[in-house]
This record gives sequence, C-alpha cells and structure tokens, in this order.
Amino acid sequence: MKQGWDIIVLAAAISAAIVTPLSIIFDLSAINLLNLFNGFLIFLFLIDIAVNFNTTFSLHGEEISNRRAVTRKYLGGWFWPDLIATLPIGLFFLASGLLTAGGPLQLLRLNLLFKLPKASRTLRRAGGTAINPAILRLVLLVFWIFLAAHFISCSWILISGNPYGLDPLSRYIRSFYWTITTLTTIGYGDITPSGNTQTLFVVLIELLGAGMYGLIIGNIANLIANIDVAKSQYKEKLEKINTFLKYRNIPVNMQKKINNYYSYLWESRRGYDESSVLQDLPDHLKVSVSLYLNKGIIEKVPIFQGASEDFIKEIILHLTPVVFTPGDSIVKAGEVGFDMYFISKGSVDVMSADERIHYATLGSGHFFGEIALLLSMPRTATIKSREYCDLYRLDKDTFDRVLSRYPEFAETITAMAEKRRAEIGEAGAGKKDQ
Ligand code: CMP
Repeated sequence: MKQGWDIIVLAAAISAAIVTPLSIIFDLSAINLLNLFNGFLIFLFLIDIAVNFNTTFSLHGEEISNRRAVTRKYLGGWFWPDLIATLPIGLFFLASGLLTAGGPLQLLRLNLLFKLPKASRTLRRAGGTAINPAILRLVLLVFWIFLAAHFISCSWILISGNPYGLDPLSRYIRSFYWTITTLTTIGYGDITPSGNTQTLFVVLIELLGAGMYGLIIGNIANLIANIDVAKSQYKEKLEKINTFLKYRNIPVNMQKKINNYYSYLWESRRGYDESSVLQDLPDHLKVSVSLYLNKGIIEKVPIFQGASEDFIKEIILHLTPVVFTPGDSIVKAGEVGFDMYFISKGSVDVMSADERIHYATLGSGHFFGEIALLLSMPRTATIKSREYCDLYRLDKDTFDRVLSRYPEFAETITAMAEKRRAEIGEAGAGKKDQ
C-alpha cells in the first residue's frame, strides 16, 4: 500500500523534474494547464507529508508505530525537503511585490525538485528485490545522467538565448545535443559560447563532463562485472581448476569428467553450494529457507509425507545436497557406511559387490544407504549412478538421533531395510542355485 503510494509520488517528482525546467525556460507559466499541473503536484506532495506522519518505520527489525516516535523521526529528516517542495515560494514573492510575474519568479518553481532525493530512494526500493542489484544500479545511473543532461540543456537554453530564432523543440534538441557532446568530452565545437557568462558555464559543464565521464566508465565496467557475480565466480573457479588439471597432467578423460560435473552444477544450481550459502543465517531463518529449498525432496520421498513438522525440520536442516556424475560409485559393498542418501533427481543401480547381480534401480523419491546405519554393518550392495544425480546426504549422527526420537520413522525404515536385505539374500541364493 505505502509502496504503491511512494511510486505515485515518485512519478510526480520525476514529471516535476522534467516539466518544471522546461516551463521556466520557455516561459510557459501562462498556460493554465501547466499551472493546474503544478497545483496538482503540490497537492499530492502535501498529502505525502500527511501520509509520512502516519507511516510506521522499522528500527533494528522492529516495526515502530508510536506516533511520537514516527513524528520525531520524520521531523528529523525527510520532512524538511518534503516541506520545501510544497511551499508556494513564488506566490509569496508575487504577493509581497518583491518580484513581478515571469522572469526570476519562474525559477522559484524549482523547489519542487526537493522531492527528487527521496524519489531516488523509492526507485532503489521498488526495484530492490525484483531486479538484479547491479542492473538496477546501472538503470539508476543512466536515469540520473539523463536527468542531469536535461537540467544542463535547459540551463544552456536559458543562458545562450535564441540567436537563430529557432522554435522551442529545435532549441531543446540542439541544446541537448550540445550537452551530450560536452558531457561526453566529444565537443565538436560547432556550438561555442559567446560572452563571459556562457564561457564560464561551458567551463563548468566541461569540468563536470570530465568527472562524470570517469564516473560513468568506472561504474559501468564495475556494474557489468557484477551483473552476474555467480557466473564470474564460477568462471574464475573453473579456470583455476583447469589450470591445475593441466599443470598436474591429469588424464584428458578425467579432465572432461570434472568439467562436465561443473557445467552440471552450473546448470542445476548456478554453481551455488546451498549449504555454505545458508551457513551464516541464524537457525530459524535457516529452517525456513531450507524448508523452501527442499520442498521438492520432501514432497517426493514417501516416508516424509504425513510426517510431523518437527521431524521434517530436524531432517531438512541436516540434508546436504550432493551431485554424482554418470557411472560414479556412490556406495561400495563391504565398506563402512556413514551416510544415507535421498534421490532428488536421476537414478541409481543397486548391485552386488562384483556388479554381476542387479538388485534394483532406484529413482527420484527413493532412498538408500540406510541398512549400514541402521544395523551397524558393512554396506550390503554397491550403488552406481546411471546419469547425473542430485542427491541429499544425511549423516549417521542425525539419522541415529531422528531414529530414537521418532519411532514411526524407525519402524518404517527398519521394515524397508529388512525387506531389502531379504531381497539381496534371495537374489544371492538364486545366483548360487544357477
Ligand atoms: P546399505 O547396505 O547401507 O548400502 C547399500 C544400500 O543399497 C543399502 O543400504 C540399501 O539402501 C540399498 N539396497 C540394498 N538392497 C536393495 C534392494 N534389494 N532394493 C533396493 N535397495 C537396496
């Protein structure tokens, strides 16, 4: 609601910034529509002041709605530019007889521009979460440059007069052209100053142009590099790894496999290691983000369905996403097991140690590796990935804790483990009989 209102005020402030300088230089004050527009803006800005006196603010994450605190905060900051933007200063001078209509009186309309700094804040907030921050900064930079160029063009029209008797549109276009060539330090020299005021103005704009040019180039280079931080970090990481692989003469097929693994990581999760990204968050936030991120796996795995919220939370916080490439041995028969796995994407083959007997193929939503943890015995089978697999790993400590706390889970998983062991036994016996 407040954000919607801020955007209306922002649109009003921007239109004031564009229209007011034009109305001054072309002396459009006599046009009624324009006066009406001006009056409307002032009315809108007055309502904005009232709205601000009634808007809560957040302090250290707490929403402050106490009226005195709100008033004190507003009076200690944005109230003053807001107030100046609404003052009919021109009318005061006109009424007091200090100035007559037209001329310098027009300049006093510029007080509307006091609304601009706050507009910049609204722009940043409006784009805040929706747009990539680097792109937002780039858009804001271009916006401010164009607005500055507009002010300079209007000032140049005011200072240079109209020696060639051009119509207002042509004057504005020529002046804008002069501004851009001067600001970008191109300076064709086809429009030159005459007289001291114009020359001093040009010097000022040239100095501004030199500074602005440096600022723009520096900012744009920086912003472009930051548009996709994840991608540039990923590329840098890949370059480092490839240099290392070449330096240590790692066989080409292994290098290919490593590169494929990284491109899969990039395609599936933009190269982010979710668990390390979440590491800095406090526990309650970690739980909510993890629950959201791992929604898919919770929905896929049948033993999670219908389970209590506490149980899901306990498990989810300790799931580590891992990726395996096609043909990787995830679990080896006879080894000691420290983790179990849930399959999010892809499928795996469950085989005997010599890989001659194929017990099963497990896919998305299935789990494996529970027998070794449950019965403290060596792995009963070898498990290999058939394609790229996204798995979630659960460590033994969490598994044991969850098992002792949630007997229903213990029951289901024990039943599953026994059934699987029986199947292995049968398959082994069958093989011997042959
Ligand atoms: P674990 O013994 O820890 O490691 C190998 C895993 O393969 C085992 O746990 C089970 O999760 C899984 N497994 C064993 N036998 C079967 C089977 N018949 N069907 C599906 N999965 C199995």
